[in-house]
Amino acid sequence: MNKFILVTGGAGYIGSHTVVALEQQGFTSVIVDDFRNANPIVLEGLRHILGHDPILHRLDVCDQAGLTELFEQYAFEGVIHFAAYKAVGESVDKPLAYYRNNLLGLINILALIAQFQVPNFVFSSSCTVYGEPVGAKEVSELTPKQLPESPYGYTKWMGEQIIADFHKSSPALKLMNLRYFNPVGAHQSARIGEFPIGKPNNLLPFVTQTAIGKQAQLTVFGNDYPTRDGSCIRDYIHVMDLAEAHVAALSFLANQKSGLLEAVNIGTGAGTSVLEIVNAFERITGLTLPYVIGPRRAGDVIEIYANATKGKEMLGWKARLSIEDAIKDAWAWENHLATL
Ligand code: WQD
Repeated sequence: MNKFILVTGGAGYIGSHTVVALEQQGFTSVIVDDFRNANPIVLEGLRHILGHDPILHRLDVCDQAGLTELFEQYAFEGVIHFAAYKAVGESVDKPLAYYRNNLLGLINILALIAQFQVPNFVFSSSCTVYGEPVGAKEVSELTPKQLPESPYGYTKWMGEQIIADFHKSSPALKLMNLRYFNPVGAHQSARIGEFPIGKPNNLLPFVTQTAIGKQAQLTVFGNDYPTRDGSCIRDYIHVMDLAEAHVAALSFLANQKSGLLEAVNIGTGAGTSVLEIVNAFERITGLTLPYVIGPRRAGDVIEIYANATKGKEMLGWKARLSIEDAIKDAWAWENHLATL
């Protein structure tokens, strides 16, 4: 059986780690990426880890003609759709770019999996569809979705709506939305990892860049929240656990006899605060991290973490790496970058 998997955005942070996990399970990844949000350095890392160059097509997912040629060339067993813009703050400044790229790209892919009857589809969704949890901070897939706080969040929320309507029109296809919590860390080889373009938006890359001297200091966005230490709480999941969840999702879909649509939370099931991340980093590295407490960041959710039961029961998947593993691997990756 051919096992070609189309990985859109496969040169990106989560996409590249998923390419590694797919190959480890005997799948052949076909990467589509136009490198607008990825750095070619990832290709050297993938070559080092895989022992060969991955199949790569430099394409924009909004290029329907180019994508069609690809679907004509490969009999894809499945598609994992990562390619999208993902910075919450940037999406407020550039809403049209986010709606065009994130929604048109998804629509193009869905149209092609219907046209070519590609049986299995996994969508890179996000816990952002839950908004600020009302009551319990632990959210399951049954937790009502709330209207998002940013255009980025709306592209995930609308993306899931588009997929739900598409499912009704193509009931034989097998579709899954993976709702990520907070991806962190890097491959244990330290040869691929998160490569923020410009100043990092996300916490851990900002911590490692501060520690290595790329940033002067970290600002903790608020310590006056109603949490155990006053800083926001998130469910930080090692990117390799997240990557392996995609393989588990594809394998599950491939084993289904009839069409379906499922959403699954991909998180550890535990929450960690910003200050706990900072303290863990200092403990693990022995470094003192220069940070200040600043004002709250608009749009931040106070506390959210996953109920990860469905992933375990349906996919047989469970996060196995710890926050400490993620911090160690992120720091090793930052140090590798410094040698380039
Ligand atoms: C985490 C916590 C910040 C930076 C976003 C998207 C989500 C996903 C991951 C794509 C917050 C605090 C951060 C800093 C800080 N995106 N922080 N100082 O906002 O939870 O999630 O990225 O997959 O969909 O919404 O992640 O890492 O930006 O912030 O204090 O310099 O760290 O306030 O409390 P977030 P984040």
